[in-house]
Amino acid sequence: KLDGKKKKKKKTDEDDNEQPSSMSPEEREAIISAAATNAKPFSIMDTMVTPATKPEFGDYQCNAAMSLAKSAGLNPRECATKIVEGLKSIPGFDDIMEDPEIAGPGFINLKFKDGYLAEAARKMAADANEGGRLAVPKTGHKQKIIVDFSSPNIAKEMHVGHLRSTIIGDTLSNLLEFAGHDVLRLNHVGDWGTQFGMLVEHLRDEFPEALNKETSKNVDLGDLVMLYKAAKKRFDADEDFKVRAREGVVKLQAGDKEALAAWESLCAASRVEYQKYTNRDGSPLPMLIRKSDGGFNYATTDLAAIRHRVQLDPSDGGEKADRVLYVTDAGQSQHFEMVFAAAKKAGFVTDSSLEHVPFGLVQGEDGKKFATRSGDTVKLKDLLDEAIRIAGEDIKSRQDNPDDDLPETLLDVAKTVGIGAVKYADLSMNRESNYKFSYGRMLSLNGNTAPYMLYAYARICGIVRKATGQSEDAKVEWPEACSEIIISHDAEKQLVRNLVKLPDILSEVETDLYPNRLCDYLFETSQKFNQVSYRVI
Ligand code: ARG
Repeated sequence: KLDGKKKKKKKTDEDDNEQPSSMSPEEREAIISAAATNAKPFSIMDTMVTPATKPEFGDYQCNAAMSLAKSAGLNPRECATKIVEGLKSIPGFDDIMEDPEIAGPGFINLKFKDGYLAEAARKMAADANEGGRLAVPKTGHKQKIIVDFSSPNIAKEMHVGHLRSTIIGDTLSNLLEFAGHDVLRLNHVGDWGTQFGMLVEHLRDEFPEALNKETSKNVDLGDLVMLYKAAKKRFDADEDFKVRAREGVVKLQAGDKEALAAWESLCAASRVEYQKYTNRDGSPLPMLIRKSDGGFNYATTDLAAIRHRVQLDPSDGGEKADRVLYVTDAGQSQHFEMVFAAAKKAGFVTDSSLEHVPFGLVQGEDGKKFATRSGDTVKLKDLLDEAIRIAGEDIKSRQDNPDDDLPETLLDVAKTVGIGAVKYADLSMNRESNYKFSYGRMLSLNGNTAPYMLYAYARICGIVRKATGQSEDAKVEWPEACSEIIISHDAEKQLVRNLVKLPDILSEVETDLYPNRLCDYLFETSQKFNQVSYRVI
């Protein structure tokens, strides 16, 4: 087995036995040749072939010989030689790769041929126009994948954690869709309990129209946060109201008509709130599915959702997903661990189709809780507006007359840069780390930032415009593909070597779900692009 990367080999007594194994030469031959045919040089996913750690080592390296040697009863260099023979016997290998090099104790270095690089770059360019795929093949095993992300809480305001979930989940969805999967983006609004009973009872007293099916959808509940605060105040102060609230949620879950109408009006009002922008703690052990008063909770909605998402047939309203990704803060890891385990135990799922995709906290620049100067939570609207404002100020300061207001087109640029900076800052970080929110850093023109990437993109467009005589005022049109690409400088070759790895990076993100790998790749590509000199002739 070459895919030792994922499955750690169990240590057995046999491993400690220094004697050559008792395998027959035929068996040995069979293992090595199977290994060699498996060692596809172009996929970093399923074999021990990984991108080279240094450009001198070539484009990929295969370190399988070392771990394979013992069980095959060979020394690692002999084993590497066998693998190389196997590789060279793969039809077409010679067209793509130089002769593999064996280095040190048995490392195999693999290097693309220049002719292959030039042709691959030409194919990418030919497929680069609008809607093009840069010659990235679609997946051979299409899946139905549910990405559960954003998932704000009904009747509560969205916060920065929801922003992270939205940005990461959206990116993963786009990437999986591009890979050719059938992606369903889901907002899970199942995170509610007693507080909902509290709201329903509050509405009963203050907005009775909300409890009537006919009128409930059109009631103006005003500011949901104010409503929540008012209900919470009563809940804390009034013992009778507290009891009513507790009973209220059970009534709602039992399908009480009035409570359902109130629920509808709260959901409708919440949807209006969420529309303006285009998390919670793990449950304590043990996992509660139903409380003694008959009420349900967060884990229950998740279990119900799993049946719906994985088990139920589409004819019964289900989704029959092959893979479900849950994009939430890392604080919910235990919740999902328990929910997934319960779902398995209950027979709702049989395999590992459920994956939690956790992310770290958003912190202030000082590493403390992300909050306004006065300690309140930061409103998402203010956060995005501020990023756009700072981007605008920067553009303004570069104008001939910095006191002039920005024209419409430059206001648009500020919006693109501001929002792009917030999104890219999130995506370019390892999602599992806590992330220090800093306008200064995310809006900097230096480093792995949105402004740098946008600048690189603008520069590429500029070069294309110049080369093809297009006006600066319209959206750039990518030229027809050329018939041949000639790589004549080392800087060009380094750029192309990077470009042709796009499918590898995409499939890596598809498996491991770390968008920052794609950002790193794009940043490296931009840097390599900037190493090349361009001249329009
Ligand atoms: N609403 C939850 C929160 O704000 C996230 C829900 C995530 N999805 C799920 N199926 N539990 O943290």
